[in-house]
Amino acid sequence: MKPLFVANWKANKTVKEAVDFAQKFGQEIANSSSAAILCVPFPYLYTLFELTDEYNFKVGAQNVSRYDNGAYTGEVTAQMLQGIASHCIVGHSERWKFFGENAQTVAQKVEKLLSNGITPILCVSDQRQLETYLSSEAIAKSVEKIIFVHEPPGAISGGKDYHPQEPERANEEVKTIKEKIGQDVVVLYGGSVNSENITGFLEQGQINGFLVGQASLSVDGFAALVSTASR
Ligand code: PGA
Repeated sequence: MKPLFVANWKANKTVKEAVDFAQKFGQEIANSSSAAILCVPFPYLYTLFELTDEYNFKVGAQNVSRYDNGAYTGEVTAQMLQGIASHCIVGHSERWKFFGENAQTVAQKVEKLLSNGITPILCVSDQRQLETYLSSEAIAKSVEKIIFVHEPPGAISGGKDYHPQEPERANEEVKTIKEKIGQDVVVLYGGSVNSENITGFLEQGQINGFLVGQASLSVDGFAALVSTASR
């Protein structure tokens, strides 16, 4: 399997920058055999999703409500994402840290996404958190429909310096995640992946792809990452 690349733009870019990026990125990866998903801020989903007919990438959200449609001011529900996002990041450590996310809310979000046909990209900070997730029925019964990400919070660049986990260690952690789940699931690595260190991770056997933050913000940089891996 060629690696899967998920861009996590976080709270960055204007709408014009987002559209320019998507068009240029689509052209640059036209001949790449790796898969790419752009996880972008909510206001850009509709416009970027329209481009997925023309280009070789998919579009995802970075968060979703744990509620169904109703009186929840400011929320974006999984039903609303139907037709404008095929994937959605859930449980990112920045959501735990800044927005009070917890294992229960994450499990509720996963359930809402799955029942609306959207693939959750579930971030796992450590093995203990994975065990908590797997104790939730919503997650345990649907593991094959979920893309997991081994993403130690200490390895995330935070938009500043890159300080990735050692590739061998990341590979071991991903292997342990697969063993604990007990099925052949897709597990990505996230945290400070960039063009300088990608080769070390690609050489490992267990990692199925990458969740990329800072290095996904430059179109040339991210397209180069995706192309390197498809060679
Ligand atoms: P980073 O972010 O690549 O900038 O470390 C990854 C993430 O937080 O998903």
